[in-house]
Order: sequence, then structure tokens, then C-alpha cells
Amino acid sequence: MGCGDTWVPARGSLPHPAHSTQLSATSAPTAALQHTGPRRQLWVRARRSLPGRLPAGRLFNPGGGAVLTQRRRGAMSWYRNTVWFLTGLREYTRSGYDSASKHFVPADLEVNVTGRSFMITGANSGIGKATAMEIAKRGGTLHLVCRNKERAEEAKREITTETGNQNIFLHILDMSNPKRIWEFAEKFKTEHKLNVLINNAGCMVNRRELTEDGLEKNFATNTLGTYILTTALLPLLANEDDPRVIIVSSGGMLVQKLDVSDLQSENVTFDGTMVYAQNKRQQVVLTEQWAKVHKNIHFSAMHPGWADTPAVRSAMPEFYEKMKNKLRTEAQGADTVVWLAISPAAAKQTSGLFFQDRHPVSTHLLLARTYSSPEEEEKLIEALEELSQKFKPA
Ligand SMILES: NC(=O)c1ccc[n+]([C@@H]2O[C@H](COP(=O)([O-])OP(=O)(O)OC[C@H]3O[C@@H](n4cnc5c(N)ncnc54)[C@H](OP(=O)(O)O)[C@@H]3O)[C@@H](O)[C@H]2O)c1
Repeated sequence: MGCGDTWVPARGSLPHPAHSTQLSATSAPTAALQHTGPRRQLWVRARRSLPGRLPAGRLFNPGGGAVLTQRRRGAMSWYRNTVWFLTGLREYTRSGYDSASKHFVPADLEVNVTGRSFMITGANSGIGKATAMEIAKRGGTLHLVCRNKERAEEAKREITTETGNQNIFLHILDMSNPKRIWEFAEKFKTEHKLNVLINNAGCMVNRRELTEDGLEKNFATNTLGTYILTTALLPLLANEDDPRVIIVSSGGMLVQKLDVSDLQSENVTFDGTMVYAQNKRQQVVLTEQWAKVHKNIHFSAMHPGWADTPAVRSAMPEFYEKMKNKLRTEAQGADTVVWLAISPAAAKQTSGLFFQDRHPVSTHLLLARTYSSPEEEEKLIEALEELSQKFKPA
């Protein structure tokens, strides 16, 4: 998940148990993780510590209105993170997958997709590669969009050897470079057809780093890159039968309300985990908005659960150590992506929904106050459109 080749663990909480010593509004999930008792105890413990029981002394300033607001905000953030994390322990883990998969219909994936064309970004590792493998096994033509040539070639070799599928093509592209994305998409349109676009590449960078265009790196990759690639390829997708767009978002977005006031995190204390979660929220809103406008294309966003990917192993060693027996495999993380990409059952679902384990799920946690207004959602699209046009080749 690293934009800069490494995914630096952040101060926040999605999920970074390694940083549990910090007294922050997001530290409670970490405490829950360290608790080894039955799940019920976790819930009881979380309930005991919900808003109104912030750590003593934190932001304590009787009579200070602004501080009170800040305290409320901190409490809400803490509440969201706690509920989210406990939900994760129950649903996002491997055992969550095991119980959900009992209700899967195996025939959904018994599909031959020979002749259909799939583009997957970030396809050289983790969930992207596992998705590519499953589609290759079923005969699909694959366009792997990766930024690192060596890693991409290695992945292509592995997929070809394992599946025997020869229709696998590599495209080298940095998804944080908007001008290159436009150029790539324009060229691609003249040379290929496309049935399914899978926006999987994603990253979490903890420090505020800028791309060569002066864009904050998480935003450039996760939000703007996804926006430009999808927008540019929509006309190509629209030409085809049963066109689909899938965005690999994250359940982490549940802790964030859409915020369009500071898309590049210029005016906040930078927290890579929360910036990532905000980007993933933006992806979900984009999915909903696109679905409203482009009725002929099927859009969906999804959460893969907590999967054991190279990024998690290398960049979150302590989380990995604590959770390694609970994490999903890459294939389990990719299952819903594959289902959304190839199954007739997925196409029957309403366009624009957010999926987890082959089911549409809510895009908001209970009582978490993360709903945004139509005006805010419209503003996101306007801001991305304006920014993307600046990089569009004449
Ligand atoms: N694993 C989880 O538990 C989990 C949970 C929720 C959501 N997700 C989402 O799942 C998706 C896949 O992540 P993963 O867990 O499978 O991690 P991963 O194995 O590190 O895969 C991430 C992929 O994105 C690529 N990428 C990152 N920045 C890029 C850029 N600027 N241009 C092009 N490609 C770029 C990476 O390429 P390099 O190899 O060159 O770095 C890699 O191929 C991400 O969108 C992530 O947010 C994962």
C-alpha cells in the first residue's frame, strides 16, 4: 500500500497497534486489540469507555467552548474508531471471511470470461495480483497497470505460468502522476477494448510528501489518480457489453466523514492513516456519484477485509505479529473484487454500492455522523474535475 514503496505506519488507528502508547483520540482500538478475552468482553470494555469517558486530563479546560468542541470531535473520532475496530475483529478477519463465505454461492464464480478485457491497477502484488490470477484462470484478457517494471514483469510471469493464459499485458504507470494517467488512458483507448476497470492501486504515506506536481501523495494516488483513470476510460467502457468499474476502497473509510475543505491536507496536523481513510471515503462517494450519472456502466466499491499482503507484513510488523493468525489470505481479500468483476450475480446488484464479502453493506457506522450533504458530494466532483483538467494534455 505504499506510495513511496514503503508504507510507513501512521499515528492513527487503522489498525496500528504498534502505536498504542500515544494518548490520542484513536488509541482505543489498539487497547481492544491487546485484550485477549472473548469478544463480548471487548464490547463491554468499549461501551464502558465510549464518549464521555475520554482519558482523564485530555483537552481538559473547563469553560473553554472551543476546547469543548474539540473534545466532542475527539470523542466522536474515538467512538468511530472503536466501533470500527471491534467490527473489524468480528468481520474483517479470516474468521469473519470464513463465516461470511458459508453463504457464498460457488456457482457465481464458475464463469468463463474469455474475450472480456480487464484492467487492474496495482496488479503486481497483494489483492491486485490475487484478483488478476483468478481472472486469468477464467480466460480473461488482463491489462496489469503497475508502476514498477521489475515487479510487474515478475507478477506477469507468475500469472502466466500458473494459469497458462497468454493474454496478459503490462502497462507501466505511476498512479500519482495525473498527466501520465491522462496520456496512458488516451493511448489505451485507441489500442484496446475494456469491459472491466478495477481501481486497486492504493497507498498510505504517513509523512506529507508531495509528488513532482506538488500534489499530496496519498490524495494524488488514491483519489485523483482513480478519478482521472476512470473518467478517461468511461467512454471506452461504455462501448462494451456489461461494463463494470470496481474501486478497492477500505472499511477504514467508515471512520471519516467526507471533507472537501482541504483535499490535500494543507491545513491540518498530518496523519497518514486518517488521510488514507478520507481518500477511501472519497472513493466511495465517487462510486455513488458515477453510478447516478453513468447508468450504462455498473459501479461498485468494496472493502477486502484485513488481508495479509506484502505491505502489511513489511510496513506494519507489530500489527502483523499480533494479528498474523487473524488476517485473511490475499485470495480471500480479493474474493469480492473477483465476484464484482466477473459474476452475473454482481451485475444484478444496484450500481454504486459498497460491498464486503459479496454483500452490499452500509457506508456508515451506526451513530457515527459521517453522512455528507449532496452539496458536499457535488463539491468533491467539481474540485476533482477542475484539478484533473489542469493536467489534461491539450
Ligand atoms: N490489505 C488490506 O488489509 C487492505 C484493507 C483495506 C483496503 N485495502 C486496499 O487494497 C488495495 C491493494 O492493497 P494491498 O493490501 O494488496 O497492498 P499491496 O500488496 O501493497 O498492493 C498495493 C498495490 O498498489 C500499487 N501502488 C501503490 N502506489 C502506486 C502508484 N503510485 N502507482 C501505481 N501503483 C501503485 C503497489 O505497487 P508497488 O508494488 O509498486 O508498491 C501495489 O501493486 C489498496 O487500495 C488498499 O488500500 C487493503
